[in-house]
Amino acid sequence: MDTLVVRPGSPLGGEIVILGAKNSALKLMVATVLTPGEFVLRNVPHISDVEWMADALVAIGVKVTWAEPSTLLIDSTGTIVPEAPYHLVERMRASTALLGALLARCGEARIAMPGGDDFGDRPIDMHLRGLEALGAEITLSHGTIVATATRLVGARVVLEYPSVGATENLILAATKAVGTTVIDNAAREPEIVDLAAFVNRMGAQVLGAGSSTITIHGTDTLHSVEHEVIPDRIEAATFLAILGAAGGELLLRGARLEHMNLIVSKLGEMGMRISPDANGLWAMASGRPVSADIATLPYPGIATDYLPMLIALLAIGDGTAFATENLYQGRFRYVGELTRMGANIRVEGHHMAIRGVDRLSGAPVKAFDIRAGAALVVAAFAADGETTIHDAQHLDRGYERLAERLTSVGAHATAVL
Ligand code: EPU
Repeated sequence: MDTLVVRPGSPLGGEIVILGAKNSALKLMVATVLTPGEFVLRNVPHISDVEWMADALVAIGVKVTWAEPSTLLIDSTGTIVPEAPYHLVERMRASTALLGALLARCGEARIAMPGGDDFGDRPIDMHLRGLEALGAEITLSHGTIVATATRLVGARVVLEYPSVGATENLILAATKAVGTTVIDNAAREPEIVDLAAFVNRMGAQVLGAGSSTITIHGTDTLHSVEHEVIPDRIEAATFLAILGAAGGELLLRGARLEHMNLIVSKLGEMGMRISPDANGLWAMASGRPVSADIATLPYPGIATDYLPMLIALLAIGDGTAFATENLYQGRFRYVGELTRMGANIRVEGHHMAIRGVDRLSGAPVKAFDIRAGAALVVAAFAADGETTIHDAQHLDRGYERLAERLTSVGAHATAVL
């Protein structure tokens, strides 16, 4: 969609099915490159990032087809060209995960070096140092990372920071390395656990995923598998924040409390009622949210990806809240758009003071990235009058059929193509 138009109305009610996690599906797609075979991935969201990852896989020689609405058939039996060119990496940074997988499968990888993005610099130095520790030789030539390894050999890698992408790249590379790899200070996100479950089903031996120390015993005998992607906790949190702004009662079918403990308790502190149900998460909201302070941290802390939506909700909070973004230096561009809608937010370095106002005021605004777009959707539900979100194609990168699903629970949301 080009534009998303939202008009506030009555409180929301009904059920939304939470679809597969974008940030898991993308890496599982990459993991199919590890060994030749025919893979079945279920619960894959129909979003542009998945389409782009499919393009990247097709470009290296993998066949990707949709079977049912949310099932991907991935055939990696053909000859693989170990190369991800600039136009693919530049479009989607997650394609850097191909580095570890291609090194493991082909012994070489040429991946365009990603640049900075809307969040600021996003280096991949830890990915590269980790792969070097496993024996890869890495050079940068004309903007392309050239990595080679006749044989990857297990090693102990201590990450300076629990980077999701570095942990994933190292897991992928180490599955087929000779000997044992230990990743210390590993990222602990549910998507890492899903990746480990996927490769373990393929025959890999990844132990400790979900903790800070992951041990991988390399093996040569991997095979193709079927797997169902975990539900998207960020999508679930987005719908919770929208509910917080709009009021009403929703069942988020499939959402898992165990992946969302801190965000659920934070939204509870802000006055929402949320409880697990046999089918997912039940949630209710009424009145203005209560202001509460927030700081983002690696999992199990409050994810940086939740923050824009929480800030939009705090914009109509009863009181003042202080928020700290600890992961990205430049993830604040959406604040200017919220200000256009009447929010009172002051940014100082990586801190924000959010002085809640009664109501925002609908306006034409612009989405700069997926979560910035999601923040504007939340704000639109907290506003009087109509909000028109331009550049809404960013939302399509991470949210499938957003307008349709919101409309199904009573919202007035129209996608303009
Ligand atoms: N970092 C480095 N060096 C590295 C790697 C990371 O300095 O080698 C820094 C980054 O610059 C950043 C921080 O470490 O400041 C966190 O980066 P991390 O590697 O953990 O993030 P990522 O793998 O690039 C994934 C998600 C992001 C999400 C982050 C943090 C995918 C495709 N992306 O990115 O999701 O914000 O983890 O949880 O999995 C999104 O979905 O909108 C999104 C941006």
